[in-house]
Amino acid sequence: MTRLADKVAFITGAGSGIGRASALRMAEEGASVMCTDIDGDAARATSLVIQQSGGKAEGESLNVTDSDAVKAMLKQTESVLGQLDVVFNNAGIAGAGDWDATISVNLTGVRNGCLHSAPMLAASGGGSIINTASVAGLNGLVGIRGEITLEELAAGAGAYVASEHGVVGLTRQFAVSFGRFNVRVNAIAPGYIETPMTAEAREIPGAMDFLASLHPMDRLGQPEEIAAAAAFLASDDASFVNGVILPVDGGYTAR
Ligand SMILES: NC(=O)c1ccc[n+]([C@@H]2O[C@H](COP(=O)([O-])OP(=O)(O)OC[C@H]3O[C@@H](n4cnc5c(N)ncnc54)[C@H](O)[C@@H]3O)[C@@H](O)[C@H]2O)c1
Repeated sequence: MTRLADKVAFITGAGSGIGRASALRMAEEGASVMCTDIDGDAARATSLVIQQSGGKAEGESLNVTDSDAVKAMLKQTESVLGQLDVVFNNAGIAGAGDWDATISVNLTGVRNGCLHSAPMLAASGGGSIINTASVAGLNGLVGIRGEITLEELAAGAGAYVASEHGVVGLTRQFAVSFGRFNVRVNAIAPGYIETPMTAEAREIPGAMDFLASLHPMDRLGQPEEIAAAAAFLASDDASFVNGVILPVDGGYTAR
């Protein structure tokens, strides 16, 4: 497929998991890709894979919580790769009990990406912004180790669910505000995906069966399955899709 031929995609969190798989998928579909991650080496490793398979990519270190740096990297993408068509605000953390860090990366990071890229895309005639939310942006979570405690609600699970609900709201607001400029803004809400983010949770005895049981398809998802949805939203196949929160969750949110 060459749905993304002649398009330039900017991706955050492209050094691992969903971001990495999406960078590879978008490149496979013809896009030139700016791979960014707070782990610059990981971002460069992803871009190298693309280059080695004949695609065009750059890899750079970027912390999405740094608003000025996000703006500068979006401009750099335009100057180095020639244009900007797709912005995938994907970087995120599980939280590990730190409210401020979770909100800062998962919500403020997405806000920085939307805020700086939407006017750029509007000025160039349009484009597609994709945000990674979560099923935790649509529903509350259930605990893997039993009841979610008050302590976890104060920081860990509470912060993660609040940040992801924030991403959902931000996505809708940017979609409403920028639709008339041909800038489409959508989010993907993954179920549990087998990436490094969920590695620790998956190791808890019994967790795999429990997590699988939350999804009517009785399994976890793979990062490539999220990448496929991101490539669709990035492409002109989604030319009238705006303001959508797309669950890619094996039916998790259907019940
Ligand atoms: N894995 C899941 O089950 C799942 C489910 C729902 C939503 N998500 C969301 O998907 C997104 C990607 O998660 P993943 O599973 O691929 O995780 P991952 O840990 O494999 O990858 C996340 C990447 O983001 C990078 N990152 C972290 N903080 C950053 C920062 N401040 N600036 C720039 N990059 C930063 C990390 O270095 C890492 O490479 C996250 O937003 C996450 O919340 C994941």
